[in-house]
Amino acid sequence: MVTLYSETTNQHFEHPCNQLRDREPFDFDGRGIFGNFESEDQLVIYLVIDLETEIIKDCKWQIIGMKTAIAGVSVLSEMVKGMVLSKSLEMSVYHLIKQLGGFPDDQIQVIANIIKTLKLAINNFYEENGLEHKTSDDFALRICKCMDVSDQQIEAAVKNGAHTFEKVQTITKCSTGCGTCAEKVQALITSYL
Ligand code: FES
Repeated sequence: MVTLYSETTNQHFEHPCNQLRDREPFDFDGRGIFGNFESEDQLVIYLVIDLETEIIKDCKWQIIGMKTAIAGVSVLSEMVKGMVLSKSLEMSVYHLIKQLGGFPDDQIQVIANIIKTLKLAINNFYEENGLEHKTSDDFALRICKCMDVSDQQIEAAVKNGAHTFEKVQTITKCSTGCGTCAEKVQALITSYL
């Protein structure tokens, strides 16, 4: 069980990379927006992408509220630079947490939201260039590979009253295979309660 922020997370929190300042002009090819401005809780990721090679040449971001997302999106913006889009589509909660050197279990949804915002930015690039979407429309994250259970299914179960690991397991069948997803499932349940 991880409860503390890692050294990498603290460093990026104090010295974030690739953050756009207020009203700083920036030309981008794809933009993902998560949350909304009025609720003062918003993350925006901007990508500069080479149309021919589909390589991400630059990645910047802006944030309102969502302070706990700062280190995660800072690290992500460094990770995706130079990455081809097909590879960046494989980015998962697991990859980002690994790069952060761990992340508190009860904050895992913050990381999931950053990954979703990246995928929204990629989809925006595809849309703007008349290309076919290569990401799923709902951006569900597969938490349990054995039983093919997504974060959205777990969230729905919790919001429908399954407030314990056992109840979520009964409803969704998650963690009934190899069991390696159990910690992630528990962390998600905690974050949705
Ligand atoms: S990944 Fe969930 S049971 Fe194997």
